[in-house]
Amino acid sequence: MKKLSFKLGIIFFITLFCIETFMMLFLHASLTNSRVEEELTSLQARGNSHRTILERNFDKETLAHVVLMESKENTDVVITDKTGKILAASHPHPEIQAYIKNSEDNVPYNGKVLQGNWQEENYISTISPIQKQQTTIGYVFMFQNTDSIHALMERLNRHFLIVGIISGVVTIAVIIVLSRKLAFPLVQMKEATLKMSKGDFTVALSTNGKDELSDLSNAIQLLSDDLHHLREERKEFLSSIAHELRTPLTFIKGYTDILYKRDLTERDRQKYLGIIIEETNRLSRLIKDLFDLAKMDENSFVIDKESLHLDKFLANIETKLSPAFQEKQIHFFVQCEEGLTLMADSARLEQIILNLLNNALTYCSSGDSTSIIVKRHSRFLQISIKDTGKGIPKKDLPYIFERFYRVEKSRTRALGGSGLGLAIVKELVHAHGGEVTVFSEENKGTTFELLFKE
Ligand SMILES: Nc1ncnc2c1ncn2[C@@H]1O[C@H](COP(=O)(O)OP(=O)(O)OP(=O)(O)O)[C@@H](O)[C@H]1O
Ligand SMILES: [Mg+2]
Repeated sequence: MKKLSFKLGIIFFITLFCIETFMMLFLHASLTNSRVEEELTSLQARGNSHRTILERNFDKETLAHVVLMESKENTDVVITDKTGKILAASHPHPEIQAYIKNSEDNVPYNGKVLQGNWQEENYISTISPIQKQQTTIGYVFMFQNTDSIHALMERLNRHFLIVGIISGVVTIAVIIVLSRKLAFPLVQMKEATLKMSKGDFTVALSTNGKDELSDLSNAIQLLSDDLHHLREERKEFLSSIAHELRTPLTFIKGYTDILYKRDLTERDRQKYLGIIIEETNRLSRLIKDLFDLAKMDENSFVIDKESLHLDKFLANIETKLSPAFQEKQIHFFVQCEEGLTLMADSARLEQIILNLLNNALTYCSSGDSTSIIVKRHSRFLQISIKDTGKGIPKKDLPYIFERFYRVEKSRTRALGGSGLGLAIVKELVHAHGGEVTVFSEENKGTTFELLFKE
């Protein structure tokens, strides 16, 4: 945790520090410039207003009046004639005189800044020409000591320092909180995946939020739930296989012992051998079904599609199964238009329909009926296998396609299927790109509907 949040923190800090420093420097420079600009403009304006007064009356009295006005301000005025000779000054500092010596010609009427470098010079100054009838008769020099500007800048720097320290502290605090907040779910996920790798799938990650981290957290939670489900399913699957194998083996072993040890009548011997053969058949069917499912799981099983003429194909199945239905006195018929074709693997499609018909045969009693009805719709073909048998309870319907799921859990020898038939049907239909759905009502009957795209 520390490493990641520390790295994030450092990256945030460097970025924010650079941005903040740049912004502070920029703000400081523009504040300073505008403040000095303001001082120079007001100094210039003062000079210009003195000049206006002097243009009206350029005599000793007015000169004295102007000087008197400035003596009370923190600015100074020096008035010269056009040659630069000082006529009057509010504060005849020798340094001020040095500026006047360097005075220039061609001063615009609105005046100009003589010295604006407040950082290195002791004074900033402006000059305004006094004119009478378009000819310059003298100059008004305005001076302002830069001490006041330096004091102002010091105050400004102090404020910037305080703001800088406060924003630095706030930034660090925000960064610590943010980086921890960002790193925390990652650390949680790391711990969750470690737990999962040790086989513990009881992971509970917080999955609120809509950002990428929550998505990742959701995905890990889903993975953990799926793995948990898969492990449970595998356990159940293995115990079901064990159970399915044990039942017929118990019968076979029991009856072989009897046959081996006892003197039996020929009739009993035949009867027990019959049971042994039946249970052996059941075992080999179970093993074949399991093999089929394993192949489907691995996707190593090929669907060889060809164009099937459904009427002939179903007539064939009808011939095969009719005797079995007749024997149980169940009415069985097929309804299929002539000329309907379907692209399918004939052996696999037969397996699908035989599995469904076997169920109908098993779960119908005498007097019931079973039918295969084929309908063509605009974009798909529908094969319904319908019976009027005992139906499936509503609570069992969602599970009947699961492996080893049976409505009647007791495996009587009469209705003793293993519960793999419909799982195989579902896999085979999906392998053909089709869908299988079931509709059933208890004591009324069941319909399995197969939909294949044409
Ligand atoms: N037509 C039907 N009428 C009533 N119940 C049915 C019908 N088809 C399936 N079922 C119920 O669904 C369960 C699952 O059927 P599935 O074909 O998968 O297994 P099974 O017939 O018991 O065994 P298997 O087919 O492997 O010999 C059955 O045990 C039965 O309870
Ligand atoms: Mg079955």
